[in-house]
Amino acid sequence: MIGIGRALPGRCVTNDDLSKIVDTNDAWISERTGIRRRYYCAEGESANSLIIAAAREAIGNAHIQPEKIDCVIVATVSGDYVTPSVACLLQAALGIRENIPVMDINAACAGFLYGTAAASGMLQVCGGRYALVVGGEQLSRLMDMTDRSTCVLFGDGAGAAVYERDDTTNLCVDLGSRGGLDIQIQGAGSPEPSVIQMNGNAVFRFAVGVIPSSLNAVLEKANLTMEDIDWVVCHQANARIIDHCAKKMGAPEKFYKNIDRYGNTSAASIPLALYDMYREGLLKDGQKVLAVGFGGGLTWAGALLNIHLGVTE
Ligand SMILES: CC(C)(COP(=O)(O)OP(=O)(O)OC[C@H]1O[C@@H](n2cnc3c(N)ncnc32)[C@H](O)[C@@H]1OP(=O)(O)O)[C@@H](O)C(=O)NCCC(=O)NCCS
Repeated sequence: MIGIGRALPGRCVTNDDLSKIVDTNDAWISERTGIRRRYYCAEGESANSLIIAAAREAIGNAHIQPEKIDCVIVATVSGDYVTPSVACLLQAALGIRENIPVMDINAACAGFLYGTAAASGMLQVCGGRYALVVGGEQLSRLMDMTDRSTCVLFGDGAGAAVYERDDTTNLCVDLGSRGGLDIQIQGAGSPEPSVIQMNGNAVFRFAVGVIPSSLNAVLEKANLTMEDIDWVVCHQANARIIDHCAKKMGAPEKFYKNIDRYGNTSAASIPLALYDMYREGLLKDGQKVLAVGFGGGLTWAGALLNIHLGVTE
């Protein structure tokens, strides 16, 4: 990873703000989830505009020109159009070349790491050196604001990374899915409204099982142990899920959390965490980050990321 960027929308919504529109309170949300605020798109903002802004910053941060990009993957479930993909509109907006692979993928909250794996494969099959991978969502437009058990959890945002191909090492990943409807957003043509519906307890149990098993699978493939890892970044869905897994993996100080600031931003949450770590001076050149995402599908993705970001400006 040689460049990183992010975009947050303009409307900050605190737990107290939510308690004015739904039967909830700051104590319940912060104690059960760790969330204190999240951002919603304001007038004129959308998943696409956030994704394009985050990608622009990541390319600038990588110190390359957009024409150098050889592959564009966007992970999202909330793009502005069903077609064209966000990736195609991002390509046009940033002046990225035409004759390269450009597509969206839907792997929900595992999408950024699924996208990272897809980009690695694309660079190998199609050739090229630099891949742009973005995760971004406008979940605020998919929320049932009368369902207090889900609407307090999610937020909008986008995070982007530029990767440079490294022929000396293989990307180590662990990808999977367990088909099921425990998190769902019904599509056009369905009699149900297109909002996020979730069986929170089932997803919680899925997450605390799959996170450690995926992290261990990546470690095994990379022939490493937790001692070789500088940071662990889990999809930010619930601070209790992360704390439980951190304890189970035996190195709680390596698990980063920023869910208090953004809530669950689905495909954006892992690059948003990496971005904050970079800005806080925690991510250093040469470090190894073990990352894991999980969510609708039910999908999961673990990956080992090698960090080569420049010094924070
Ligand atoms: C959703 C989640 C936070 C709920 O937490 P929980 O501790 O399991 O809470 P429960 O669902 O058992 O509900 C407990 C009580 O709180 C109430 N409650 C639910 N949401 C509430 C809210 N926002 N404010 C106040 N009370 C709430 C429930 O009605 C229930 O009340 P009752 O005991 O009177 O019936 C938790 O299950 C979770 O985080 N699951 C994983 C979700 C996830 O990660 N999803 C995304 C994956 S990408």
